[in-house]
Amino acid sequence: MVKGKFITFEGCEGSGKSTQLRLLSKYLDERGISYIVTREPGGSPIAEQIRRIILDGKNMEMCDECEAHLYAAARMQHLKDTVAPALEAGKLVICDRYVDSSLAYQGEARGLGLEYIASINCSALEKYPPDLTVFLNIPPDKAFSRKHGADENDRMERQGLDFHRRVYGGYLKLLSKYPRICAVECGGTKEQTSANIINLLKSRGII
Ligand code: TYD
Repeated sequence: MVKGKFITFEGCEGSGKSTQLRLLSKYLDERGISYIVTREPGGSPIAEQIRRIILDGKNMEMCDECEAHLYAAARMQHLKDTVAPALEAGKLVICDRYVDSSLAYQGEARGLGLEYIASINCSALEKYPPDLTVFLNIPPDKAFSRKHGADENDRMERQGLDFHRRVYGGYLKLLSKYPRICAVECGGTKEQTSANIINLLKSRGII
């Protein structure tokens, strides 16, 4: 039986997820709240090896279905090795990206369809649905200018702005479909965004 809480963070490239995860970790540390932070793709030794294949800029000929299945494969290993044991131990698990990234990136932006992606991720979705998904809501046009361009060695970051606009459109669809996803506005300072996230977690009884 799952006892801990499972929170996932989502957003477009440059949405400030890493900064927000750092600020949230600091807040939890200062209050002695126990938690783990993990990430996808990756988060366990085998899943990190799959991550290197997926993101390698040399693998530009990887087909969309292969990409989608590699994300799903890494996810199952990560769930087994890292997420499930922590949840069973009653911990708060905070994950940087999860199944919604596959739905937005592979389902919507790559055009494989939300149903197809949901079907290859059905074990993850059925056994480990997040209790809450925090979506950092900033359109890619703004996020990219904050990030000062893409990393040319990263296969996903090399996709053009149109791709990332489709990712954002995918997230907006998911937002209206799944009540577990909450949008956090990121228009203010990073401290204001962090306070919005902490208030959201408190209002949901997560912390
Ligand atoms: P990462 O460097 O962790 O990016 P970010 O800091 O933006 O989270 O790389 C993860 C990349 O993989 C990112 O471009 C999003 C993409 N991704 C998918 O396309 N599908 C997925 O299921 C996941 C988990 C990530």
